[in-house]
Amino acid sequence: MSSPAPPRLRALRHVALRTTALEESVAFYSGPWGLELVERTPGAAYLRASGPEHHVLELHAAQANALDHVAFALPTPAEVDAAAAWAEAEGAVLLDRPGPLDRPGAGYGFRFLDPENRVLEISALVHAVPERPLDVPVPRKVAHVVLNTTDIDALTAWYTRVLGLRVSDWSEHQMVFLRANADHHVVAFNQAEWAAPNHVAYEVGSLDAWLRSIGRLKVAGHETAWGPGRHGPGDNAFAYYVDPAGLVPEMTAEVLQIDEDTWMPRVWPRIPELSDLFRTAGPPSPDIRRHMGGVPDPGWARPAG
Ligand SMILES: [Fe+2]
Repeated sequence: MSSPAPPRLRALRHVALRTTALEESVAFYSGPWGLELVERTPGAAYLRASGPEHHVLELHAAQANALDHVAFALPTPAEVDAAAAWAEAEGAVLLDRPGPLDRPGAGYGFRFLDPENRVLEISALVHAVPERPLDVPVPRKVAHVVLNTTDIDALTAWYTRVLGLRVSDWSEHQMVFLRANADHHVVAFNQAEWAAPNHVAYEVGSLDAWLRSIGRLKVAGHETAWGPGRHGPGDNAFAYYVDPAGLVPEMTAEVLQIDEDTWMPRVWPRIPELSDLFRTAGPPSPDIRRHMGGVPDPGWARPAG
């Protein structure tokens, strides 16, 4: 057995959201957003992108919008076992032991809690899906999830220590961008009044595919809520929308690729020239800020007693 160390997560696998508008949201994400429904239960839907992941988005019917869980990828059950042992040794609350997953996509994994009671999942060996025919530019993967937190420093320390994520950049002391692989960020935290999902970003393969996706949404009656523009930190093109439940998805492209050996995190001043390199978007409106703020999310509920 190798000496204990943080896991080396290979990717963000999927994001699961609780939504107050399940049916309308399934229609939105499997329609103009460009994902495809792979599995359905009365209370939940599983949607894939064009990449190899079984699904990149789960939607669960709920009384309030919230994060259900975030899933990360490791290649082998042995690495999953080591990640669970590491998390437990670092004081994380494990919800179950590593084992076969009895959920769509199956695989081998476990779940645990972050300090704000978010449910995290680490898994290996999930089911393959058939190649998806690509006659339209659609998202190929989930690029990142941004989470509002009441303690950005504590969360940054915990996610770097327990999950092995690395800090790529700061946006003043307001946001921090964390990477698991060459992508500039797979998780970002935003300092806020309460914990809640801020937005989930989906990546298309090129700027052309990104603009065509914005066009497809526009023709279907969905205008951007912020963007199109291009972020300073991460250098990614962005276009934000509001989904039928009021949650925020982002269509993104050209996320900065990081060289692990030479990268130096920077602190980005929050000025217009760096907030939108295209200078097309302008500042976010109070309305999109409100949607990104969400409603207070208590996270996983402990059973009474
Ligand atoms: Fe984003």
